[in-house]
Amino acid sequence: MESGLSEPLSVRRAVTGRRSVRRFLSKPVARETVETILDEAARAPSGTNTQPWGVHVVSGAARDRLVEAVVAAAQAGEHSQEYKYSPDEWFEPYLGRRRKVGYDLYGLLGIDRKDFDGRKAQHIRNFMLFDAPVGLFFTMDRRLNHGSWLDMGMFLQNVMLLARAHGLETCPQASWLGHGDVVHRELGIPDDHVMVSGMALGYPDPGAPENTLRTERVPAADFTTFHTE
Ligand SMILES: Cc1cc2nc3c(=O)[nH]c(=O)nc-3n(C[C@H](O)[C@H](O)[C@H](O)COP(=O)(O)O)c2cc1C
Repeated sequence: MESGLSEPLSVRRAVTGRRSVRRFLSKPVARETVETILDEAARAPSGTNTQPWGVHVVSGAARDRLVEAVVAAAQAGEHSQEYKYSPDEWFEPYLGRRRKVGYDLYGLLGIDRKDFDGRKAQHIRNFMLFDAPVGLFFTMDRRLNHGSWLDMGMFLQNVMLLARAHGLETCPQASWLGHGDVVHRELGIPDDHVMVSGMALGYPDPGAPENTLRTERVPAADFTTFHTE
């Protein structure tokens, strides 16, 4: 059984079965479920138990307002930079990995590599939360440093894994960083807090081709050095 807290997922299945979902059902998610996930996710470790995370949860009319504002900004070609997520220029082996996941996703959706309008439309689906009824926006105080970013990552991963214990799935979304100004304004996030990431949360659409994407991983032997003597 994959869902329900009476028989929770094994950690291994929660981790290895997680994938980014890019089409959700409109089926609502109860607020108590979101609260439970966040309460449990907050068991994440953080340096000296600083717990740097803040979360803005959108659903209902607030979700729809945010989606409308950011989709409009994206369609108008507006852009802001919440923080620098990527290097100035990608390089190997990361460039190739990025390209592969993009091509594989567009392939499943039947979007040609040169179909720039189709690709843009798919990019804009990020700002519709891929139809998910709930959006999560993770924030922290800008004065915090690299260590707290690590803590945030662990918290986000906990959210993604715990969502699965409730039959839910997620898509972490850095794409919102390009419209951080609108997110700040719509959700009243103060300027001295940084939006670390967005995340779509909901029930996956089992019939959606984009949800069949299975991404590859480099085996541990290729990125690990064992020191024994
Ligand atoms: C911090 C972060 C930001 C991401 N941002 C996006 C995004 O904006 N849109 C998207 O479709 N996927 C996004 N992803 C999902 C990655 O593309 C995905 O994790 C990666 O391709 C591996 O696939 P998997 O999650 O299905 O295992 C993001 C992932 C992470 C960890």
